Amino acid sequence: MDVGTARETEAAGLLERDARVIGAIEKLRFSPLTAVGGEGSELIDADGRRVLDMSGTWGAASLGYSDPVFAEAVAGAAASMAGASILSSVPEPTVRLAEELLARAPGSGERKVWLGHSGSDANETAVRAIEIATGRPRMLAFEGAYHGGTSGSMAVSGHSSQEHAKAHPGRVLVPYPDPYRDPFGDGDDLAAAALARIDAALAEHGPETFAAVLVEPIMSDGGLIEPPSGFLPGLAARCARHGILLLCDEVKVGVGRTGTFAACAAEGIEPDVVTFGKGIGGGLPLSAAVGPAAVMDCATSFAIQTTAGNAVCAAAGLAVLARIDELDLPARAAERGAQLAAGLRELAAERELIGDVRGRGLALGVDLVRDREARTPAGTEAAKTIVRALELGVAFFCVGPESNVLELTPPLTVTEAEIDRAVEVIGAALADVEAGRVPDAAIEGYAGW
Ligand SMILES: Cc1ncc(COP(=O)(O)O)c(C=O)c1O
Repeated sequence: MDVGTARETEAAGLLERDARVIGAIEKLRFSPLTAVGGEGSELIDADGRRVLDMSGTWGAASLGYSDPVFAEAVAGAAASMAGASILSSVPEPTVRLAEELLARAPGSGERKVWLGHSGSDANETAVRAIEIATGRPRMLAFEGAYHGGTSGSMAVSGHSSQEHAKAHPGRVLVPYPDPYRDPFGDGDDLAAAALARIDAALAEHGPETFAAVLVEPIMSDGGLIEPPSGFLPGLAARCARHGILLLCDEVKVGVGRTGTFAACAAEGIEPDVVTFGKGIGGGLPLSAAVGPAAVMDCATSFAIQTTAGNAVCAAAGLAVLARIDELDLPARAAERGAQLAAGLRELAAERELIGDVRGRGLALGVDLVRDREARTPAGTEAAKTIVRALELGVAFFCVGPESNVLELTPPLTVTEAEIDRAVEVIGAALADVEAGRVPDAAIEGYAGW
């Protein structure tokens, strides 16, 4: 038999089995990417092909797929006390992880940690605890923001894919300052306009009724948007003035990805509560909320989960932190990110579809547009670019309300040569899309969010 045919059959077979047994409700698919293994920044697909993963599984694979220190730490914990969790016992690695997080997370005063399994549960728990601790009913959050897929985290989100979700009764949404598509459209100082809008929302409802402002330092699923300088400090100042807690969602962009351990540090702010997820577990289910003791001790048995703070995930988190230090991953992320951004900006000179390249470190977005003048989102073209790039050996996904922003959040360990390869493939895929060489049929079932 022809080897190629046998390989195709294996991938097709796995996709077919998946369609038969895994429900659509947990799928967000952009391409027929399969995986049977991984090494470094690459996934090995069911056909045995190596695929450079420029999404890093949405940033969760912070150390890539085969880090030896991570593997040994996880295997050791799994062989020793896999089930032990923080709920009703005190696993030492879990306490150590909390100590290590407290040493790195921005913030001051007496603080404590809550550990969970996902960004969703961390944000949901942080919001619930803040509500109880402050006794205030309202939450200020941002249009477009994705804070999770559980009821509580969806309720304080503003993402276009979650219009079905029940909103938190006290949720007040305001526009996020997007320098490329200014939501105020007046050409004035964007940070000042966004802050004025927030002042108006606070005044309308009474600032003393707001428990927290929930903000991403770089909005990720909403379109990989970096707010203008001055916006986050302005927000922090308002929170301090009105006794509102600043809750910073660092689930995607935190843990070294943007060049500093927490992305918000670049703007010099100290949020009251910070949530981490994705990359902190290096692919294992681990999340954390770090905040004032008064919030984290607001009640006993208030946010409990049987396997939260288990020794295996704690070992994974400790290994991630150790590798971040040992390999100086924030600095590497800044360097590789600058290389990637420069390569993409060079591509923009040739590829009309690229409207904007933005982000920081290894959290970058490529905004595809049909018309550079009008900045019309090119969602279909983004879907085609993703499918074509996978054919060429590079995986990534897209974000934004129109699913037109290619999001690049590769492992923090991605190499210089891999970045060059990614830029080359993205350029080739865009050229094919622009030339009409990717048929509509190729993206059937891959419409985006
Ligand atoms: C900023 C942000 N917060 C929270 C979440 C939810 O995290 P998880 O999917 O791990 O629950 C995500 C996931 O995309 C995210 O990007």
